[in-house]
Amino acid sequence: MTKPRKHIHLKTELPGPNSRALVARREAAMPLGFAKSTPLGVRRAHGALVEDVDGNTLIDFTGGIGVLNVGHTPTEVVEAIRAQAGDLIHISGLVATTEAHVRLAEKLCEIAPIPGPKKAMINNSGAEAVEAAIATARAATGRQAIIAFEGAYHGRTLLGQSLTSKYALFKKNFGPFAPEIYRVPYPYLYRMVAADGMSDAQKVELVWESFERALIAHVAPEAVAAVIVEPVQGEGGFIPMPVEFMRRLRAACDRYGIVLIADEVQSGFARTGRMFAMEHFGVSPDIITLAKSMGGGMPIAATVGRAELMDKPHPGGLGGTYSGNPVACAAALAAIDLLEKDDLPARARHVGGIACDRLRDMQGRIPILGDVRGLGAMLAIELVEDKASKKPLAVERTLSVVNYAARNGVLMIRCGLYSNGVRFLFPLVISDSELQEGLDVVEEGLLQA
Ligand SMILES: Cc1ncc(COP(=O)(O)O)c(C=O)c1O
Repeated sequence: MTKPRKHIHLKTELPGPNSRALVARREAAMPLGFAKSTPLGVRRAHGALVEDVDGNTLIDFTGGIGVLNVGHTPTEVVEAIRAQAGDLIHISGLVATTEAHVRLAEKLCEIAPIPGPKKAMINNSGAEAVEAAIATARAATGRQAIIAFEGAYHGRTLLGQSLTSKYALFKKNFGPFAPEIYRVPYPYLYRMVAADGMSDAQKVELVWESFERALIAHVAPEAVAAVIVEPVQGEGGFIPMPVEFMRRLRAACDRYGIVLIADEVQSGFARTGRMFAMEHFGVSPDIITLAKSMGGGMPIAATVGRAELMDKPHPGGLGGTYSGNPVACAAALAAIDLLEKDDLPARARHVGGIACDRLRDMQGRIPILGDVRGLGAMLAIELVEDKASKKPLAVERTLSVVNYAARNGVLMIRCGLYSNGVRFLFPLVISDSELQEGLDVVEEGLLQA
């Protein structure tokens, strides 16, 4: 029995004929390696609602993979893009300076959760922001080694792939990878099955021991330029880092002169209920990488850090043709303005609370719903064969949840090291009623899986 829908309007089966035709052309013209989580073609969108190429209206629970915290096509962002594009689309920050580029750098330095003087390098994608952060940390310390976590995702450039840890999906056949990267376990407490029965604090202690051991067994701390960490692991399954672990990481970086890089490409810009996830931890990174919801949908990213570090790469060492593109900068300024003006961190806590309550209620009733976790509105569920063994649910059954949602009017995407997670990245401007309706569809999908 499906509940009546108020927001989802389906005129055809999904995918409809126009979606099928468009996707067939996509598959003929684009490499199969560039996959998609739904078989739908999309024509337009506003807020949290998407219209497909057959005129169906769906609810978007992916937010363009965390890009649309301010929602689809917010008027202010659209107007800022139009106004800037009429004046100047591109000049290259390597050639000349634009007001939009400078204002954005100033704004990011003002809001980044790092004390003291800061500088901001604007780039085009999260992976590029990560590249610039690592280059800066190496230039600043004169060291080469980087510590990254199991389950990490840092992008698809060679360095990004090298820092990323989910092998089969992101790395298979693409090596050799960049050297001097040392992998340590992430405190993924739910999946420490052999330690079940221990308290969270004891589990954190165990994982911390392996971090300290790595500094003896794998690399000398004096050789480490940076530790790069996602404060809420994204692709790895929306796993918030325990506060105690982050504080110890900060202390270890201080002890050994290591640069702490917080990769907030996915967790930043209000998603977790604060403007940046690092604000939950009571400690600051030295460098933060930003992208996704920074641009309101435009491709733009940034590496923001302590000024004395950011100035260490030699003149000409950073940047690219499109870095600081004025149209993307104007969109980002308008998007950040909306995040602040409409207090979207508070909205994230509100919609995150609704979704978390509903998912926890489902968890009590649905045997495959093993874990509900996250921070604010950065939420995911992890699906299991049974709650006692926690064996990851077979990939086809997890996929069937996403596919059910796509057939019934909700866009979704998976996550997790075992590809058995489903993540929630709905625009933060989603109405309570749209959110509840989307969650009705998720519940049906889980029950049929
Ligand atoms: C934490 C994190 N870092 C880096 C990236 C790479 O960003 P982009 O896809 O913009 O290169 C992502 C993308 O999902 C991410 O989640």
